Amino acid sequence: MTEYSVAVLEGDGIGPEITAEAVRVLERIGEQAGVRFDLRYAPFGGAAWFETGSAFPEATQAVCDGADAILKGPIGLGTEASKQIPPEEQPERGGLLPMRRRYNTFANFRPVYLPPELAHFSPLKPDRVEGGLDIIIIRELVGGLYFGAKEKGFTDHGLRYVNETLSYNEHEIRSILVVAFEEAMKRRRLLHSVHKSNVLMSSVLWNDIVDEVAKDYPEVEVRHVIVDAAATAMILNPRQFDVMVMENMFGDILSDLAGGILGSLGLMPSACIGTEKSYYEPSHGSAPDIAGKGIANPYSMIGSVALMLEKSFNMPGEAQRVWDAMRKVFGAGITTADLRDPEGRCTVLTTREFGDKVLETLG
Ligand code: IPM
Ligand code: MN
Repeated sequence: MTEYSVAVLEGDGIGPEITAEAVRVLERIGEQAGVRFDLRYAPFGGAAWFETGSAFPEATQAVCDGADAILKGPIGLGTEASKQIPPEEQPERGGLLPMRRRYNTFANFRPVYLPPELAHFSPLKPDRVEGGLDIIIIRELVGGLYFGAKEKGFTDHGLRYVNETLSYNEHEIRSILVVAFEEAMKRRRLLHSVHKSNVLMSSVLWNDIVDEVAKDYPEVEVRHVIVDAAATAMILNPRQFDVMVMENMFGDILSDLAGGILGSLGLMPSACIGTEKSYYEPSHGSAPDIAGKGIANPYSMIGSVALMLEKSFNMPGEAQRVWDAMRKVFGAGITTADLRDPEGRCTVLTTREFGDKVLETLG
């Protein structure tokens, strides 16, 4: 029997409850496909910091090092709890970024997927999203401002200052662009490259490399779009986009904007693909305000399992079954309280009951 090991990091806030549903789906798929998933739970995030003094404890690193893939819940604490942790040790800077760096997960896939069964969640007028949306945002995940040199201090005049650096070399840019061109080749052969070359020199280099890499993909139509204009265009006419590629910070912002187009960040799973190891996580935060109430929708976590099946375990058919099952559940007019149909016509179930429906649909 094929066996894969999966590190399961439940994270903070709503993490444990939505991860529980994702794990049930993974196990069901395993039973059906004759694959054993060896699940290895480990603490990560704010909870881990309070338990062990580190958001990414060494023991958790060892579990992740030994796993074939990592399924990670959202992390982060409310403002008050965060204050108890020194800034550099907080779950984002002390856990998540070190994880991205450790596994060099440079390619972040964020599907912006709005099939007709989910269209009622979108706040855009129906004609904007008619026929559904199927965009994939590819975000560079281990460079740029997030990882550049930082310093803080005092100016000669005694003013506090900070300096953070947006740095990319050509290898880093080429690597993410190749991923994006390859994805475009599998899809509509249309690639939007998002940049800010009217201001940032990093984008001038980015665009030069786009031209170089494009020579290897003559079938792909490349469209350049400046990041601020991209934000407007995504709202006015999201259907024009298929694959979009951009640097780290642009991707952080535009992918949340895309969550707004879908109607919720709860509809945004993601895959963080590394050179040797990949991890899978929702694009959203840990929503401490609704944690433990059983009202969070597990879609983003179950979708992350689908991405893991496709990208780490070469099980695209099973991945598709997971997407289809969730579409069917929403198509039957079912939702959870955090993800309300604006017209209020849906049946509202708990997180667990929603998971039950997905399992029933999977058979
Ligand atoms: C995301 C999140 C993270 C990011 C935070 C939690 C550090 O917003 O994955 O988009 O900014 O990358
Ligand atoms: Mn973000």
